Parts: sequence; structure tokens; C-alpha cells
Amino acid sequence: MDSAYLIEIGSLLLRWLHLIVGIAWIGSSFYFVWLDNTLKAPSDPDLIAKGVGGELWAVHGGGFYNPQKYLVAPKNLPDDLHWFKWESYSTWITGFFLLGVLYYSQAATYMVDPAKAALTPGQAIGVGLATLAGGWLVYDGLCRLLMKRSLLLFAALYFIFVVAVAYALTHLLSGRAAFLHVGAMIATTMSGNVFFWIIPGQKTTVAAMQRGEVPDAIHGQRAKQRSVHNNYLTLPVLFCMISNHYAFTYNHPQAWLVLAAIMLAAVLIRHFFNLKHKGIFAWQYPLTGGAILLAVFVWLAPAPLAVSAASAPQLADIEPIIAARCAGCHATAPTLMPAAPAGVLLDNPAAIRANGPRILAQAVQLKAMPLGNITAMTDAERAKLAAWVAGGYR
Ligand code: HEC
Repeated sequence: MDSAYLIEIGSLLLRWLHLIVGIAWIGSSFYFVWLDNTLKAPSDPDLIAKGVGGELWAVHGGGFYNPQKYLVAPKNLPDDLHWFKWESYSTWITGFFLLGVLYYSQAATYMVDPAKAALTPGQAIGVGLATLAGGWLVYDGLCRLLMKRSLLLFAALYFIFVVAVAYALTHLLSGRAAFLHVGAMIATTMSGNVFFWIIPGQKTTVAAMQRGEVPDAIHGQRAKQRSVHNNYLTLPVLFCMISNHYAFTYNHPQAWLVLAAIMLAAVLIRHFFNLKHKGIFAWQYPLTGGAILLAVFVWLAPAPLAVSAASAPQLADIEPIIAARCAGCHATAPTLMPAAPAGVLLDNPAAIRANGPRILAQAVQLKAMPLGNITAMTDAERAKLAAWVAGGYR
């Protein structure tokens, strides 16, 4: 089996798995935040005596459920206690391997953009890995310094930090690698919260109980705080993870600002849902979020093509451009890739003509192609392709 096919299989299996465990993790995050926000103080004196601070009733799949939350911990530790940690760890592990298979093993094509920075593939990978680790250190530092003083100050500084990282990465790496790494950095921080704070905090609580002591509530409170941060970070991360399909977002000259705006909108929308669980309908949040998204989409709309059919270039005029800029990858026997990516062949006139609308979309409107502009296509060449399309692909 050739290497391109192996990479393809690895990517399929890892992506599939990553999606499955990611759904399990985010699903439980949504569920527990909903649960916490929806619990009501019990009226039953037995429950109060047991130390239950909140409960609720729910029906799902034909069964009735009655979760109860203890103020700190139950008096006796149950034998069978479920821990929610592998959802997070397996999401991080599969995500990291996927990053390796897709980006790090093909860094020259997927990460380096010579128009932005003359990095070697090794340097680009170094930037990526440093972002993942550095993102955690800065977040954790800010959290330790500020969480007790001001949540708002913490949130503002962390947002500024993420935007600064987005700015730096979109100037160092290809647009899609930059967006993906912002997402991977935040996701690594979320898993760091589970690994370094939430689970250890719970372990300390359990250990204190096993010694017969009353556990300190601070461990639970800290774990809760980090868990709530994770909840707010889910939507921005998910956008970053799907952003590679939307070149118009990451290929914009101010891509960092596009990302900042979309992430802000996502957090506002998440905030609405978290308030709604408590019975507060604060419509200003999703409305502002929606308005931000709308403004971004209007801002990024591609300019209409203005070319008269009479003066439009012919296929023969654009063939050399495609041969020089695209056929290195999109050919039956490509030189820059092991096999023609996405099955798109652009090495003969009939195929070029048949792919006209896709060439327009990928090379002109989205500037997603050539990948990482590795073949250094110029704006004049893109304009010529656009004119050829506008002239009716003759
Ligand atoms: C360095 C290799 C490379 C070069 C050069 C390149 N492409 Fe691609 N192309 C890819 C890869 C890889 C994909 C698969 C999609 C992805 O990974 O995002 C792709 C996908 C495509 C697709 C399908 C996208 C879709 O979602 O439908 C089109 C169309 C395309 N390229 C057109 C072009 C055109 C036009 C050029 C020249 C201007 C070009 N490509 C140059 C690597 C390349």
C-alpha cells in the first residue's frame, strides 16, 4: 500500500474516533452544566439531612431519572463512582495523532506558507507544538493569578491572549494550520483542566473521605470553575476544528480578526444557553452573537466578477497557469503529492474545463488553492482565471 493511501486510512480512522469521543466529552460537558444550572434545592427533609443541595427530575428514553447533587460530598463514599475523564483524554489523544498524521507528517504542504514566513517544516511543527504547550501555561497562570480577583478581567485577558496567538499564527503558518492550532491550543487547555485540576481535585476529595475526614470544598469549587471555562470554550474550539473546510475564513488577509469575531460570537451564544438553563432568557447575547456572525459574512463576501465575455481569456490562455500552479498536485502522476488530492485532475484541457466552477471557487474566491500557495500563484493569475470563468469557460 502506498503512503498516500495509508495516510488517508489513518486520517479516516482517527477523525472518526476523534469525532466520537469528542461528542462524548462535549455532550457530558453540556449535560453537567445544564444539570448544575437546572438543579433546584430539595424540599424533602431526608434529602437535606443527607447533604443534598440540589436535585431534579428528568425523563429520557422511557426512564425517569432523579439526579441529586451533594453540597460538598456524600457522607459515605459509594463503592462504584463514575469518573468522567476518558472522554477528555481520548479526545486529546486522537486529536493529537490526527494533527500528526494530517499536518505534522505533511508540514511542507499543510503548515508552511512561504508568502507568510520562510519556515522549514520542522520550524512550523515547532511553532505548532509550542503553541499547544504555551497556551496551557498562559491560561493556567492567568487563572491562578486572577480567578479569585475578577472573572471578567480573567476572561478579557485570556481572550486578548487567544487573539494575539491567532494573530501570530496567521502570520507564521498557512491559514488553515493557524486556525487549527488555535483550536488545538484551546482544546489542549481544556484537557489540561481535566488532567491537572478537575480530576486531581476530585481525587483529593475522595482521598480525604477515605481517611474519614470532611473534604475541603475548595477542591470541588476549583474543579467546577475549570469545568465551566471548558464549557465556554467548546463552541470556539469546534469552529476551529471545522474551519479547514471554509477557506474564505482562514485565507482572509485579516484572518485573525475573523477568527476573533467568530469565537466571540460563539461564547456569547453559549452564554445564552447557560443562562437559559437557570430560567434567564437574555436574548441580547445570541442577538449580538448572530449580528457579529452576519457582519463577518458580509465583510468576507467575495467581490463580484466584472468581465466582458468578448475580452475573456480562452482555455489556451489559462492552461499554462494551471500547469504551473496546479498540476504539480492535481495530475495522474503528480510531482508534489503522492496522488491527485480529492481526486481532482487538472492535467488536460477537458478536465480543466469540466472543473471550471471548482477552480473558480478554490483558486479565486476562497484562495484555498494552490494549497499553502506552495506554487506561488499570483493575484494577476487568479484574476485571469476569474475572467476565463466569467467569459463562460471557453
Ligand atoms: C501542493 C498541492 C496542491 C496544489 C499545488 C494545488 N492543490 Fe488543489 N488540492 C490539494 C489538496 C491536498 C486538496 C484536498 C483538499 C484539502 O485537503 O483541503 C485539494 C483539493 C482541491 C479541490 C477540491 C476541493 C473541494 O473541496 O472540492 C480543487 C477544486 C482544487 N484542489 C483545485 C486546485 C487548483 C485550481 C489549483 C491551482 C490553482 C490547485 N488545486 C493546486 C492540493 C493541491
